[in-house]
Amino acid sequence: MITQSEHFNIRAFNTFGINAQCDCWIEFTEASDLPVVFASMTSDRYRCIGQGSNMLFVNDYHGTLLHSRILDFDIEHRDADMLIRIGSGMPFDDVVSKCCEIGYWGIENLSGIPGDAGAAAVQNIGAYGVEIKDVLVKVEAYDTFANKFVDFSNDACQYAYRHSVFKDHENAGRYVVTHITIKVTKNGGPLLNYGNLKAGLERNGNITPMDVRKLVIETRNAKLPDPTKVGSAGSFFKNPVVELADYNRISTIVGTSVPHYPMGDKVKIPAAWLIEQCGWKGRTIGNAGVWHLQPLVLVNATGRATGEEILALEGEIVRDVKEKFGIILHPEADHIY
Ligand code: EPU
Repeated sequence: MITQSEHFNIRAFNTFGINAQCDCWIEFTEASDLPVVFASMTSDRYRCIGQGSNMLFVNDYHGTLLHSRILDFDIEHRDADMLIRIGSGMPFDDVVSKCCEIGYWGIENLSGIPGDAGAAAVQNIGAYGVEIKDVLVKVEAYDTFANKFVDFSNDACQYAYRHSVFKDHENAGRYVVTHITIKVTKNGGPLLNYGNLKAGLERNGNITPMDVRKLVIETRNAKLPDPTKVGSAGSFFKNPVVELADYNRISTIVGTSVPHYPMGDKVKIPAAWLIEQCGWKGRTIGNAGVWHLQPLVLVNATGRATGEEILALEGEIVRDVKEKFGIILHPEADHIY
């Protein structure tokens, strides 16, 4: 089924809670709706949106936003491993919750991440040492250039840190994800190597996926703003991966040890740390702010922030980090104009 609304307010469809509107909003419940939608679309400016959890609407969107309401959750095979085909409109955390309830391992570390399943696969969501690419078997999409449905294997998705083939510049607007298939397993175990996650479960003997889910949600809640109270897009910036020479230079600038994680012959430095060192943790400008417990998260501090205000704050942070450390931070959140 296809539903269409003109001049649609999208405040409830972006987790920043920016009060913006789009010219046209289209929801679809079946993959087979898409050829019909594209055959009749009048505007050639469009993009897909899930829960808008990784988007900054800088101003109103003059075009069509397409929102999947495909909510399938089909277990296609189940023994030691389980293959599940999921509609792109299904909230990904509902998928995590179901897998944990029936005791299958693989995505419990991705608990509590806002956003729909389709966007999760496009963005390669990750947390606590796991990325969706680790369990992803197939992405099904409608190719709007060739007007046909196509399947992507995990390799064909070309996954990297918060990146996939669907985000490549030349594919902008090309693919609308309809389903993803993931593989989870009965015979797995907890992956608790990230940060101090292990400490939270050390006293527990027989650990289940649901135990890990609860721990991850607790850990997130301790640092990240409650999405029902304070608008944000989660991590606003990517963590920069820098040359060893840059890392050494930064150590000299601060005169103390710099947190870092090896990435091949380079190192990843937490953007949160760089931002904190520049004095931005907990600061606000007008209605836009830097979260006081995790400075990687920019927030709609008063609920009245405009996209322009968040953008201005971003600009100041990028400028300061560049001036102090010579590192250019890149946003993770998509900017929509
Ligand atoms: N840190 C600080 N000050 C702070 C907070 C953190 O210096 O106030 C430094 C510390 O060195 C800490 C490091 O940052 O060890 C890492 O912090 P954290 O574990 O919170 O992770 P992150 O790198 O800031 C990434 C993801 C998150 C994900 C967490 C947990 C990115 C851009 N972000 O954040 O993903 O939940 O790891 O795995 O990779 C998201 O993408 O929206 C998101 C929330």
